[in-house]
Amino acid sequence: MELKRVIDRVYWLLDRRRTLVTLSAYGGDSVYGEKIFNFNGKVYREWVPYRSKFAAAFYKGLNGIDIKDSYKVLYLGASSGTTVSHVSDIIGVNGQVYAVEIAEEMAVNLILLAEERKNIFPIVDDARKPENYSGSVPKCDLLYQDVAQRDQTDIFIKNADLFLKSGKIGVFAVKTRSIDVSVDPREVVKNEVKKLRAKFDVIREINLYPYQKDHSLLILRKK
Ligand SMILES: C[S@@+](CC[C@H](N)C(=O)[O-])C[C@H]1O[C@@H](n2cnc3c(N)ncnc32)[C@H](O)[C@@H]1O
Repeated sequence: MELKRVIDRVYWLLDRRRTLVTLSAYGGDSVYGEKIFNFNGKVYREWVPYRSKFAAAFYKGLNGIDIKDSYKVLYLGASSGTTVSHVSDIIGVNGQVYAVEIAEEMAVNLILLAEERKNIFPIVDDARKPENYSGSVPKCDLLYQDVAQRDQTDIFIKNADLFLKSGKIGVFAVKTRSIDVSVDPREVVKNEVKKLRAKFDVIREINLYPYQKDHSLLILRKK
């Protein structure tokens, strides 16, 4: 078994096959049933591409992104915290991830997770109304969004305007079927990218098939 670095605290674990893992910042507990590996005295958590669009992007060729130790991240559409837990690993105990989730039943697990992982700050609110949480969220080094809503691009732009530092990265999971089921998904992404270009440079667009259906991940840099 050996580890190959992808970015700080994210590795390919190379055995008979390759497995994406994050170096755990908070010990050896599994968060959502993912495998735990102990290697050279450290704990690594499998980052499952069928459960996390961010992980799927690495399996589909993403090999670098500006997220690292001590970063402040705003995460919209946190759900029960599956991907948030890996972001929490990457930014480490000195980072902060502000995790916004609208559905109270999902937020229950997120709040429990935040009790274990002190760098997660759960916010039960609507990402369409960033003014509601502007008092508790600072300027951030990365914005991640996965909300699967028709107006997802407007939500992304609104939050980036308020919270994302210029020159920093936005990661935007576009669910093509949430926008318009009757239009070819490639056209849907193209139209959303057009709206984003005024404020962002589009660095990459990654189709997440076969790990995630009807999804592309856009990597954007705020101008
Ligand atoms: C596909 S799930 C997110 C999965 C999660 N990102 C992960 O990888 O672990 C989408 C989530 O966005 C939430 N959501 C939808 N609309 C929202 C809104 N306006 N504000 C905040 N969260 C929202 C949903 O309740 C749902 O939990």
